[in-house]
Amino acid sequence: MPQFDDITEPAIAVLVDRFYAKVRQDTVIGPVFNQAVSDWDEHLRTLCAFWSSVMLTSGRYKGNPMAVHMRQPLEPAFFSHWLDLWRQTAGEIFAANLPHGFANGPNASPRASSSRSSSGQG
Ligand code: HEM
Repeated sequence: MPQFDDITEPAIAVLVDRFYAKVRQDTVIGPVFNQAVSDWDEHLRTLCAFWSSVMLTSGRYKGNPMAVHMRQPLEPAFFSHWLDLWRQTAGEIFAANLPHGFANGPNASPRASSSRSSSGQG
C-alpha cells in the first residue's frame, strides 16, 4: 500500500530504512554490506543525504560513492539485484504515478541524470 505520493525528506527516510532492512537480510548482497558497514545508523544517514541530494538537489551529500565502491568486492550481478530490491521497495511505498520514475532506479530520474556526478554509480 503506497504511503507517499511525492518525494520528500520523510519519504526518502522511509525508503532508505526499508531498503537497507531488506539489503541486510539478502543472501546475495547482504554479506557485502554486513561486512563493510559497522555503524548502520550512520550509513542510513549518509544514504538519506545522498538520495536527498540526487532527488531534491539539496546538496546534503558530500561523499564520493565511486571511491567507496571501488573498495568493495562488487560483481555485476550485485547491481541488478540491488536494483530489483530498490524497485520493489520504492513500489511498496510510493504511489505508482510518480512522474519522475524514482522506482525505476538511480539513473531513471531526470534530476538524477542532471546531477550524475553526485550519484557516482553511472
Ligand atoms: C546503483 C546502485 C548503488 C548506489 C546508487 C549506491 C550508493 C551508495 C552510496 C551513496 C553509499 C555511501 C557512500 C559514502 O559513504 O559516502 C554507498 C555505500 C555502500 N555501498 Fe552502495 N550503491 C549502489 C550499489 C551497491 C551495490 C550493488 C553494493 C554491493 C552489493 C553496494 C555496497 C555498498 C557498501 C558495502 C557501502 C558501504 C561502504 C562503507 O561504508 O565502507 N552498493 N552506496
